[in-house]
Amino acid sequence: MSFESRHTDDAREARVERGFDLDARLASREAVDLRRDLAPVDRVGPRARTAPDPKGQPAEWTEERLVLASNDYLGLAGDPRLAEAAAKTAREVGAGAGASRLVVGDTPAHRALERDLAATKRTERALVFSSGYAANVGTITALDPDAVFSDELNHASIIDGCRLSGADVEIYDHCDPDALRAAMRERAREVDASGESWLVVTDTVFSMDGDVAPLAAVCDAAEDFGAWTMVDEAHATGLYVDGGGIVQREGLSERVDVQLGTLSKALGAQGGYVAGSEPLVEHLLNTARAFVFSTGLAPPAAGAAREALRIARADRRRDRLWDIVERTREGLEALGYEVLGETQILPVVVGDRADAVALADRLHEAGLVAPAIRPPTVPEGTSRIRLAPTAAHTRADVDRCLAAFEAAGTELDLR
Ligand SMILES: Cc1ncc(COP(=O)(O)O)c(C=O)c1O
Repeated sequence: MSFESRHTDDAREARVERGFDLDARLASREAVDLRRDLAPVDRVGPRARTAPDPKGQPAEWTEERLVLASNDYLGLAGDPRLAEAAAKTAREVGAGAGASRLVVGDTPAHRALERDLAATKRTERALVFSSGYAANVGTITALDPDAVFSDELNHASIIDGCRLSGADVEIYDHCDPDALRAAMRERAREVDASGESWLVVTDTVFSMDGDVAPLAAVCDAAEDFGAWTMVDEAHATGLYVDGGGIVQREGLSERVDVQLGTLSKALGAQGGYVAGSEPLVEHLLNTARAFVFSTGLAPPAAGAAREALRIARADRRRDRLWDIVERTREGLEALGYEVLGETQILPVVVGDRADAVALADRLHEAGLVAPAIRPPTVPEGTSRIRLAPTAAHTRADVDRCLAAFEAAGTELDLR
């Protein structure tokens, strides 16, 4: 083939459309009710001004609303003590880590936080990542299991970690230790599993149902089959004994091999952590790609998280949260609403997705931020409002929330 004809063919090739029709993709999401908009707030806290998604323009704020949708459970994200800790760390250490921890991004701010996390989680050591997402993906891939046994409602970051690890993934029924045992028994029967490494992984508190994994029974099952247990305490860290999670509440620190969580929910900062044995931490810092090939957690986030952990380890803040949560749960139930779970997350089940959206709209008109959660995030017929009161809310806020639910429920004839 001559140079000219090859050149002409290349030019013709180049005219073929091989780009990405993103408008069409967005339209198809819209067609199945999956198109999302951002929903800005002017600050993180129990009350905030909101704005319609401004796209690339500055936000136009509306009036202040009562925010009942954040994961800032202890109400610490806007606490002046965390702001001061972050500012002090920025001044003394730097605003950013400047490099991977393995290069020159490993600072006293990281080490102090890790020592405190290890003390709270009662482990030999802890290691912080730049997010909980990175911690899950980094840890599961670094463990490189042959098989993972994963609760069917585990968080997306666990699912992504499992996929990226290339392990065989066996999904067991939600919070069902018998189903977990059955899955392990079946694998032991069907493959030569003698040299295999198995990982059982579960959230402790599930973010959409507010329920708690039966952790002791999960540990029993894992131990009977020689597997390791890994838990994600994202929605529990800071809320139980000594600022720990469900593992500490249940006294299981000795039996859970990998305790993972985030600094970005009850601890009001940013980042993820893994707590466990010395060899676990050494292995992760050597091989977890999300740790090795990513800039270290920003030191001010480490400083703020450490201050939050100090506050969480004392009882008062937690007591305030549970008081607000109980008042809200009892008030909603007294109004005739069904509230799931047993934790600070209060899923108010409405059922039909259109009813849930209508309720969320009424609550919005009444000045609340409490979005509807619909399929596919939750199963069909279980659409809900996910309420998350915080320790920064007042009893007056609870009364306002309940009044809005009462009026909307009557108007929509929901109860
Ligand atoms: C159970 C669970 N694990 C991990 C994460 C990720 O944590 P982060 O937000 O710190 O990346 C989340 C966040 O939504 C979560 O709910």
